[in-house]
Amino acid sequence: DAVQFCDAGYGYGDFACQNSPVSLPRILLRGGTVVNAHHMEMADVYIQDGIIVAVKPNIVVDDDVTVIDATGKFVMPGGIDPHAHLAMDFMGTQTIDDFFSGQAAALAGGTTMHMDFVLPINGNLSAGFEAYKEKAKISCMDYGFHMAVTKWDDEVSHDMEVMVKENGINSFKFFLAYKGSFMVSDELFLEGLKKCKSLGALAMVHAENGDAIVEGQKRMIELGITGPEGHPLSRPPVLEGEATARAIRLAGFVNTPLYVVHVMSSDAMEEIAKARKSGQKVIGEVVSAGLALDDTKVWDPDFITAAKFVMSPPVRAPGHDKALQGALSTGILQLVATDHCTFNSTQKAFGIDDFRKIPNGVNGLEERMHVVWDTMVESGKISVTDFVRVTSTECAKIFNIYPKKGAILAGSDADVIILDPKASVKITAATHHSRSDTNVYDGRTGKGKILVTIAGGRIVWQNGELKVTPGTGKYIKMQPFGYAFEGIDRKDAEYLKSLGAPVKRSRALS
Ligand code: URP
Ligand code: ZN
Ligand code: ZN
Ligand code: ZN
Repeated sequence: DAVQFCDAGYGYGDFACQNSPVSLPRILLRGGTVVNAHHMEMADVYIQDGIIVAVKPNIVVDDDVTVIDATGKFVMPGGIDPHAHLAMDFMGTQTIDDFFSGQAAALAGGTTMHMDFVLPINGNLSAGFEAYKEKAKISCMDYGFHMAVTKWDDEVSHDMEVMVKENGINSFKFFLAYKGSFMVSDELFLEGLKKCKSLGALAMVHAENGDAIVEGQKRMIELGITGPEGHPLSRPPVLEGEATARAIRLAGFVNTPLYVVHVMSSDAMEEIAKARKSGQKVIGEVVSAGLALDDTKVWDPDFITAAKFVMSPPVRAPGHDKALQGALSTGILQLVATDHCTFNSTQKAFGIDDFRKIPNGVNGLEERMHVVWDTMVESGKISVTDFVRVTSTECAKIFNIYPKKGAILAGSDADVIILDPKASVKITAATHHSRSDTNVYDGRTGKGKILVTIAGGRIVWQNGELKVTPGTGKYIKMQPFGYAFEGIDRKDAEYLKSLGAPVKRSRALS
């Protein structure tokens, strides 16, 4: 096996062993407003050997240090996208963006790390992990892995342990949709929740009722609705609300934290709000498509225009977007992902006669930071510090890599962006960096331009130019028992106490 797995200190590894000393530039970001989730200040940022060395006003440096003027701009932690699918085999094809092109696009949009979902091969976790290690060798930015669990036996249970204890994975995704491929039963989901709890791994859920979706699809076909609009019509918000409620209740029953991925409807969001109000540890992720798009384009008479908006759960009717924005601004939802899962027009056309065959997924890696800035900060819904929290810091905390990631602090990785709040951005398929020929945000304009991206101490995006090298991205190992697990054991003790433990109850036969 040519692939080596080298560790370089705490929670940190690199499949391609690129972390050996290479000459990284010394960089000073001068005169900007440094924004962290907890605090905002005028300060310079000095970077050396891929690490932030100092954050304070008026740093004096040698002449050979690269100085970037950030006056009037925001200097922020690079975005972390908790949810993307690069080089994923899905619905009979593979996503058009791989670990290089998807990450290059991300870097041009101010995201410096993403987390991808390792898919098992025929249910086998280890085989899936090996395959994703290969796919990720061309990475040009840091990345982490979640892993999907799609079947259950002793080997899967054991492999989950190996993934957590040896391979740096601290979260597992369970699909309640995609019947016949990824979907799991409640029985499997319960086994998975118990195992996650024992390992300190976060259970993630794709919450839509897969059985009801098959029924909904049958109805559409019987009505003669075969176009892209059949997709949202066959899987309405009620099916997302039902599965979200079920997943939350089962996680509550096991008493383990739950992370609901891609919340797309107010139905699902309200279930999360209710659970959080009751004190249950439920995390809600919204995606940029959920914040900024609605289903009107799915009715476009042009197939390709309509099909590019097909994702699961679907983009919803107007109104859900506003509800999700509100939930993000009030803390009901905690962070923003992309679910970047791109297919080009040729691939989308697999479903020309049948919406069930349109590969599901939309773009977002390059657009997320700008979309969040524009819909949330520019509109006055969240503060600049909240922007950093929902695009970076919260993700780093949830997946236990903070403050190595998600902060501009001395000692943090040099993943830093400069954002100009006054400059406008226009998104077009012709100018984006994804390999796809379409973009769901095509033609969209707004504020919040990423002027500079520094990833791992390298200036990779500046003056509209991208300079990226395959193999420079590192695998970031994530330790179990992140902060969502705090207090879980005390809640277990409380539960046992409520049953009268430690008194063993018995019934005498008489
Ligand atoms: O449509 C989507 N979301 N495709 C990616 C797979 C998933 O469910 O996350
Ligand atoms: Zn074991
Ligand atoms: Zn999903
Ligand atoms: Zn996804």
